[in-house]
Amino acid sequence: MLDLLLKTIWLLIPAYTPNNFAVIFGGGMPIDMGKKFIDGRRILGDGKTLRGFIFGVLGGIICGVIQYYVELPFSINLFSSLAISDAFILISSLSIGSLTGDVAGSFIKRRLGKERGSALPFFDQLTFLIFAYLFAYHLSPHFTTIFTVNIIIAGLIITPVLHFLANYIAFKLGLKDVPW
Ligand code: CTP
Ligand code: MG
Repeated sequence: MLDLLLKTIWLLIPAYTPNNFAVIFGGGMPIDMGKKFIDGRRILGDGKTLRGFIFGVLGGIICGVIQYYVELPFSINLFSSLAISDAFILISSLSIGSLTGDVAGSFIKRRLGKERGSALPFFDQLTFLIFAYLFAYHLSPHFTTIFTVNIIIAGLIITPVLHFLANYIAFKLGLKDVPW
C-alpha cells in the first residue's frame, strides 16, 4: 500500500512539477494573446503564458530525466526500466499533457465564468492529470507497462489529497493566506 503510494507519487513527478515551474518562470505574452472567445470572456486568461508553458514543460522533463538516473541502481518498473529514449518519450508526454490539461482547464473555467486565479476544487487537480495520462497513453508505447491500472487509479485518488495537504502546509507556514 505504502509502496503503491510512493511509487505513484514518484512516477507522477513529471506531471506534478510543470505547473510549479510555470509559476516561477511564467509571465509575458499570454497564450491567447489577450483575445476573447465568442462569449465575450478571455479564451484562456492572463494566467496562461507561453513562457510558463515552455519552461514548465522543460522543468517537468528535467525532473523526469534526473529521476531516471537517480533510479538506475534500484530500477524495478520505474522509468529506468525503459531505455532512456523510451523513458524520455514517456516523461515528455506526461509533462506536455500536464500543461495542456492546465490550459484546457482554464479554457473551461473561463467558459463557466470563473475569473483567472479562482479555484475550482477537484477540477483544478484532475484535468491536468487526466490529460497527462491521455497524452502518455497515446504517445508512449510503454505507458501501460510502467503505469499499471493500480497506479493510474491511485494517482486519481491521491492527487487531490496531496494538493489540499500541500496548500494546508503552505497556509500553516504562512506562505498562503487561505488553506485552499
Ligand atoms: N503560469 C503561466 N503559464 C502557464 C501556467 C501558469 O505563466 N501556462 C503562471 C501564471 O503566473 C499563473 C500561475 O502560474 O498565474 C499559476 O498557475 P495556475 O494556477 O494554473 O493559473 P491561474 O492564475 O490560477 O489561472 P486559471 O484561473 O486560468 O487557472
Ligand atoms: Mg490557479
